[in-house]
Amino acid sequence: MSVKKATAVAPANIAFIKYWGRKDDKLRLPANNSLSMNMSGIETTTTVEFGESEQDTVIIDGHLVKGQEQERVISFIDRVRQEVGVTEPVRVQSKNSFPRSAGLASSASGFAALALATTAALHQELTEQELSSLARLGSGSACRSIPDGFVEWVAGDSHESSYAYSLYPPSYWDIVDVIALTDYSPKDVGSTTGHVAAQESPFYQVRLDHVEDHLKLAKRAFAAKDFPALGEVIEKDSLSMHAVMMTSNPHLYYWNGVTLNILKSLQQWRADNLLAYATIDAGPNVHVICQQQDQDEVIRGLKNIDGVKDVMIATPSLGAHLK
Ligand code: DP6
Repeated sequence: MSVKKATAVAPANIAFIKYWGRKDDKLRLPANNSLSMNMSGIETTTTVEFGESEQDTVIIDGHLVKGQEQERVISFIDRVRQEVGVTEPVRVQSKNSFPRSAGLASSASGFAALALATTAALHQELTEQELSSLARLGSGSACRSIPDGFVEWVAGDSHESSYAYSLYPPSYWDIVDVIALTDYSPKDVGSTTGHVAAQESPFYQVRLDHVEDHLKLAKRAFAAKDFPALGEVIEKDSLSMHAVMMTSNPHLYYWNGVTLNILKSLQQWRADNLLAYATIDAGPNVHVICQQQDQDEVIRGLKNIDGVKDVMIATPSLGAHLK
């Protein structure tokens, strides 16, 4: 009998063009394509083992997980178990390299690592595309943590046609994400609910009408390595997503006062020729995107802003891999 155990590592990713709103909630088919960068050092390591425990067990950062969180993990694994025809209980042990309380997305790195570890433990050989589609079922953005470096998620219109692929390897561009942490408390409304609420915003369709242009501009900026052009469209796209969030039902305010102060500081820095641009996910932390040559100045500037509790740095990284 062969051992059914594997360990995988996957990075979190920061979206430059965002995913907010879906055309199919069950399959997590997004309303639009999105673009992201995998983040070095912000990762999840997951071991999956079948047949070695009495019942399905999920342990995250040393804590036995129960309720909805466990259900989300187990129903993801059930899909794979059913496909392979395995019924043995599973034991999942997962560890994040960053504090969960830091408010950095763990669902993307978590489900990407889980998809790879589960299929490897069951000796399934999936292509990168198939693995990306599978990870998407756990959390949409997880599909972008499978391929390397800078990634595009093709929205598609079916399970198989909605997946992410690598646009450029991590070494293509020395872009840095300097993350300003402004709050450690968990968010009130998770993104799974937020994606549904978004559709009630009068600006939802407006955003979708613009997002194609954002994608085009971002891809053009990548091809030309035009950093200001990339930065401008990154910030614009994030703001358009937050306009939708703030006007959805319920209104979702993910920012705090410090978030806004950072955005205003960045405007001033750019006027002083420091090229740094913001992107913000479903939380109050600000990802400040800059080039490596400006990293130290950006870190210094952010640390000087009242209310910035800590600063983390991520550079482009590989996608999910086995350990
Ligand atoms: C704001 O991938 O977390 O970070 O599919 O419901 O798990 P689910 O949502 P999730 O949404 C990410 C939203 C975002 C933008 C982005 O990463 O594109």
